[in-house]
Amino acid sequence: MTINTVHTKSELGTIVRTWRNAGKIVGLVPTMGALHDGHLSLVRQAKKNCDVVCVTLFVNPTQFGAGEDYATYPRDEEKDKALLQSVGADLLYAPSVDEMYPDGTAATLSAGRLGNILDGEFRPGHFDGVATVVARLFAHANPHKAFFGEKDYQQLQVIKQMVTEQKIPVEIIGVATVRENDGLALSSRNAYLNADERKIAPLLYKTLVETAQKFVGGMPAAELLIHAKENLISAGFGPVDYIALVNANTLVPLETFLPDVPARILGAAKLGRARLIDNIAISER
Ligand code: PAF
Repeated sequence: MTINTVHTKSELGTIVRTWRNAGKIVGLVPTMGALHDGHLSLVRQAKKNCDVVCVTLFVNPTQFGAGEDYATYPRDEEKDKALLQSVGADLLYAPSVDEMYPDGTAATLSAGRLGNILDGEFRPGHFDGVATVVARLFAHANPHKAFFGEKDYQQLQVIKQMVTEQKIPVEIIGVATVRENDGLALSSRNAYLNADERKIAPLLYKTLVETAQKFVGGMPAAELLIHAKENLISAGFGPVDYIALVNANTLVPLETFLPDVPARILGAAKLGRARLIDNIAISER
């Protein structure tokens, strides 16, 4: 048996209406496919929190910039379906580009300030595309709750802001990053690393952890960030787009650690063909 799959918003709407009319809590897990354990942990979390779980599979053209990997982004729908079946997802929504963008592939929402800083500085328009597609997926699926990985922490903040601004009644739930044993955060783009790069890759996480510890210990951000970048460059990363110590809610940079301000460290760096991003909580409020 394979997971029930629909391709149009009208088919999806019919199924979700039946669920809702039966009083079921509907969970949504948006993905771009190329599923790994990180995605499966989102589905598992959704299953714990909801009665029924719909996963979406859509490689969203509006969140890829010119020269990025839209055309070559890993796609394997049959493998994804088998994985979703194995974790008990109830439905897969795999729309076409026309279904999602009947009026042409342009982002129609803006992520504002949050979309222009950090990753947004290096991927202009990326978060506008994310906000646009997630709002449309919510409109098609009408879920009660939706689940996103903390691995894409800035994306999570953009989506929280988008549902508030658009007054969409969906509860957004962030799920902890899943890591390999050596600390590397799971990502579909880890597939781009060769064997040597794969050995170096966990240094991004290790650098974030060490920098966070020194920040809590009282060292100023400016000094720490220079040292962290140098550390990554000398190991073979480059360019290092950013390492940032920020307020965890606003993503505004912090100069020093303040115990009553929620803090997070985020980083992005190229390693060979892959661009790795990662982040960890420093303090939560
Ligand atoms: O995180 C992702 O896989 C994508 O950005 C998302 C949220 C599915 C939107 O295309």
